[in-house]
Amino acid sequence: MKAGTVYLVGAGPGAADLLTLRAARLLGEADIVFHDALVPPEILALISGKRVAVGKRSGRFSTAQAFINKQLLDAARRYRTVVRLKGGDPMLFGRAHEEIAFLRRRRIALEIVPGVTAASAASADLQVSLTRRGTARSVAFVTPRVAAGEAPSRWIEVVLAADTAAIYMGASDAARIAAELVAAGKAPTTPVVLVQNASLPEARQIAGTLGQLGALAQALGDGPAVILLGEAYRELANEAEHALITSRSA
Ligand SMILES: C[S@@+](CC[C@H](N)C(=O)[O-])C[C@H]1O[C@@H](n2cnc3c(N)ncnc32)[C@H](O)[C@@H]1O
Repeated sequence: MKAGTVYLVGAGPGAADLLTLRAARLLGEADIVFHDALVPPEILALISGKRVAVGKRSGRFSTAQAFINKQLLDAARRYRTVVRLKGGDPMLFGRAHEEIAFLRRRRIALEIVPGVTAASAASADLQVSLTRRGTARSVAFVTPRVAAGEAPSRWIEVVLAADTAAIYMGASDAARIAAELVAAGKAPTTPVVLVQNASLPEARQIAGTLGQLGALAQALGDGPAVILLGEAYRELANEAEHALITSRSA
């Protein structure tokens, strides 16, 4: 029997109506869907076939990834339509390349369905563009997160060079991130905004300066959050006066 197709599908930032039409159709058509732990129930409800949660436990990333790769391969050999559903856009900090490389080597047909990434959803919530004509012409998507055994990251240089930075997987390390950026020459007065649970009703935002980043993250508490940094957020940071903003229009 000919192997099926594996679709790496972006689930978007959380709101179910930010799924693409293609993603929604594939969730309904798939024989089996392997999904990340954080995909909300409204999106999982669109799945009509089998559903398997493949959330990764921290500290066991490579073992978990190898296991997911193997599950995708076995499913492709058994079913016609296999979906691997990933948060946001699968091609940004989603380890998509590992699944793509593994499946291509085994000649499994693949398709990628993009999704709305967290920085786009956060910008929409804030109603502040990542770019601004004349002043913000470059955007860097970075993560300071480095797993054991990986090459060191050049995220600091990249943030220093960009007009706007979107820092993923950094909120729990915010104080260290701020200290490292300031030590590398970034002004402590640089405006920052943290957006947590972007696109969802429980979304929260907090704005201030880089020097305050650790305290801002602590005030925000746990939850997926993206750190946005740059002059594009000056007005928000001034407006906020370090107070928690729950909505841009409030
Ligand atoms: C493993 S990365 C996956 C990113 C995803 N592929 C994307 O394109 O958004 C997880 C990080 O994305 C960010 N993130 C994901 N969903 C978010 C949301 N709804 N609001 C804010 N940040 C989010 C957080 O920084 C989180 O630590």
